[in-house]
This record gives sequence, structure tokens and C-alpha cells, in this order.
Amino acid sequence: MPVALISGINGQDGAYLSEFLLNNDYDVHGMVRRKADSNIWRLEELGIHDSVELHIGDVTDSASIGRIVSGLEFEPFEIYNLAAQSYVKASFETPVSTFQINANGALNMLEATRRVCAQRGKTWVKFYQASTSEMFGLTDLISQNENTAFHPRSPYGVAKLAAHWAVINYRETYGLFACSGILFNHESPLRGEEFVTRKITAAVARICAGKQKNLSLGNIDAVRDWGFAGDYVKAMWLMLQLPEPDDFVVATGQAHTVREMCDIAFAHGGLDYKNYVTVDSSLFRPCEVPDLRGNSMKARKILGWSPSVEFKDLITNMVDTELKREGVVQHAASA
Ligand code: NAP
Ligand code: GDD
Repeated sequence: MPVALISGINGQDGAYLSEFLLNNDYDVHGMVRRKADSNIWRLEELGIHDSVELHIGDVTDSASIGRIVSGLEFEPFEIYNLAAQSYVKASFETPVSTFQINANGALNMLEATRRVCAQRGKTWVKFYQASTSEMFGLTDLISQNENTAFHPRSPYGVAKLAAHWAVINYRETYGLFACSGILFNHESPLRGEEFVTRKITAAVARICAGKQKNLSLGNIDAVRDWGFAGDYVKAMWLMLQLPEPDDFVVATGQAHTVREMCDIAFAHGGLDYKNYVTVDSSLFRPCEVPDLRGNSMKARKILGWSPSVEFKDLITNMVDTELKREGVVQHAASA
């Protein structure tokens, strides 16, 4: 039975990746930080919390990584390093801890991989790193691919770029089977509440339920390439099945503004966003990434990957889930 270890298993992508790997008969292990309260609601929502094995650990704690990884040495296995402080805006407030988790944490995971591979063989462990389109940051290109220059605009992006180069360096120096997926924004009903898709779709449901009056947003003219998280975790796995390691951009190629998202989400709840959304300058980032759109031709050609969910369906599905969570019977006009 193939074995996988996922750091950040309790996050959005960790939950969908676990589900995908379990469906492909993997023995799935995950690293979770010790928390005062349970933090596995996503695994519970997918009904897979009893099917994965959780280990207490932290990517900033190399001792815990070594203990977990050496415990899995009985089989060749795949490591997916998804753990991160993943909220870009918060990285301006906590730059040092963001760097420790997102850059040093990745290095700790790579080191653990290198040590196992030094003992057991170069490809005993295959390693996936969660790189990001935030590394492109400020760009004047219409779309970004694997050859686009990086210009990160946040402590988050800078830390992720350090981790990205560490993966390339470990590949070139030690011959590790290590891949980076440069993933553009991907969303789902399991998204964290601070991210704009979930913030908007949850607000629509709460307004419909009479629990919220309006919604404050930051830069609603920001442009992003949004896809469905369930599609993107498959691309992670496909990278580790290649004969040789490589890096891939994963994106839909379609770009939209936050404003368009508001229009779709509120209309699906039978509302006009202009009556509810206000722009609050305190929610702007100190240094914004105005416009991102991915060119995933390489992933489509070599991995055979393609997205399956259109932007409008992604947003309306998220609104539907939030309406159910709020116990709202769907508006007749949008049903
Ligand atoms: P997420 O929901 O925020 O999940 C991140 C996970 O990392 C959380 O479960 C968190 O657990 C865990 N974590 C944080 N610090 C940790 C530490 N020190 N040790 C161990 N675990 C730690 O993020 P996501 O959307 O699933 O994204 C997964 C990865 O892909 C992240 O690395 C993110 O930066 C990257 N990425 C995401 C996107 C996207 O659009 N979703 C796009 C490109 C790249 P706690 O419960 O303990 O906080
Ligand atoms: N979160 C948030 N809240 N974003 C807002 C708001 C708001 O009230 N108003 C406007 N935005 C804009 C942000 O300024 C940004 O341009 C865009 O909406 C998307 O913001 P987020 O949903 O927070 O995502 P992100 O693009 O910053 O980062 C996500 O995608 C990256 C990949 O490009 C995260 O998942 C990162 O971890 C990931 O690497």
C-alpha cells in the first residue's frame, strides 16, 4: 500500500488531498500542531477523520519531523509539505513567524527527506512543496508560467519563494525527487473564513439569514485566477507520479475581479451586491498583488491535468453550502 505524509493535513488542501489519496488506496498520515481545541473540522466534514493517522508535530520543530518521518521508513513514501501560515495579509503583521513556518519549515521537511534518502536511496521519498502564484507578485505579463520572473510583494510571498528555491537546490545538490506546484488561488466550502471567496459567500448566507447587514471588503478590483481546490490536489499527486521531478504552474487561465465575485455571489442569494458591499481602506494590503492569471499549459500537456469547475459554479456552490450551513431555504429566484 502506498504511504503518504501530509503536513497541514487539517487545512483546506490537506483535507481534499487526504480524501483523494484514500480513494487511491493510500495509507495517509498527517502532521498536526497541538492545539487547545480540536482543529480537524475539515477532515470531519469530509468524513475521513477516522481513516487518516494523525501525528502531533510542527514544521518549525525538526525533532518532531524526524520522529514522524523515521516512523514511516518501512515503505517508499510521498511527503506533501502543505503546512503554512497561508493568509497573505497576516504575513505583514507576523513576518518572522511566517518566514519560520513557510521557509524554514519547508527546509526542515526537505532535510528530513534528504536524510531518509541518503540511507535508503534517492527516490525513497518523493517530496511535494506547496509553492504559490504569490511568488510572481508584481508582473506586467498577461499570464504567468514556469519561466515568469518572480517579484513577491509580501512576507508570505518572500518566504514561499525561499522555500521554492530550496526545493530546486535540494534537487540539484542531492538529486532528491522534489517538485514544486506553483498553484494559483483555489477555493472550496472548506476554505478558511478570512479568504475573500469564503468571506463573501458566507456573508451572503448570513445576510439572507438576517444575521448580518453588510460586508466590508478591501481592494475589490484585485484580479485573481480562482479554481476549485479538489482539482488542484490531483495535480499535486500527478507531479509525484512523473519519472523525473519538475515544477508546474497549476491554474484555470481565467481571471476575474473580486467585484465580479460579489456580483455572482449576491445575485445567487437574490441580492444586489451594491446594496451591501462597502470598501474599507483598512482592509487593503500594504503592498498589493493587483493582477494574477496562470498559464498552465505545461501541466495540461505533461500531467494531463485540467480544471473541472468554472468560476461561476465555484462561487454559487460555495454560496449554496453557506446557505445550508445557515439553515436558509434557497431564494426562489436563484434556485
Ligand atoms: P490552509 O487551509 O491555511 O492550511 C494550512 C495548514 O498548515 C493548516 O492546517 C495549519 O494548521 C497548518 N500549519 C500552519 N503552521 C504549521 C506548522 N508550524 N506546523 C504544522 N502545520 C502547520 O491552507 P491551504 O489553502 O490548504 O493551502 C495549503 C498550502 O498551499 C499552503 O502552504 C499554502 O500556502 C499553499 N497555497 C495555497 C493556495 C490556495 O489558493 N489555497 C495557493 C497556492 C499555494 P493549524 O490548524 O495548526 O493552523
Ligand atoms: N482576504 C480578503 N479579504 N481579501 C480581499 C478582501 C477582503 O476583505 N477584499 C479584497 N480582497 C482581495 C485581496 O486584496 C486579494 O487581492 C484578493 O482579494 C484575494 O485575497 P485572498 O482571498 O486573501 O487570497 P490571496 O490571493 O491573498 O492568497 C491566497 O492565494 C494565494 C495564491 O495566489 C492564499 O490562499 C495564499 O495562501 C495563496 O498562496
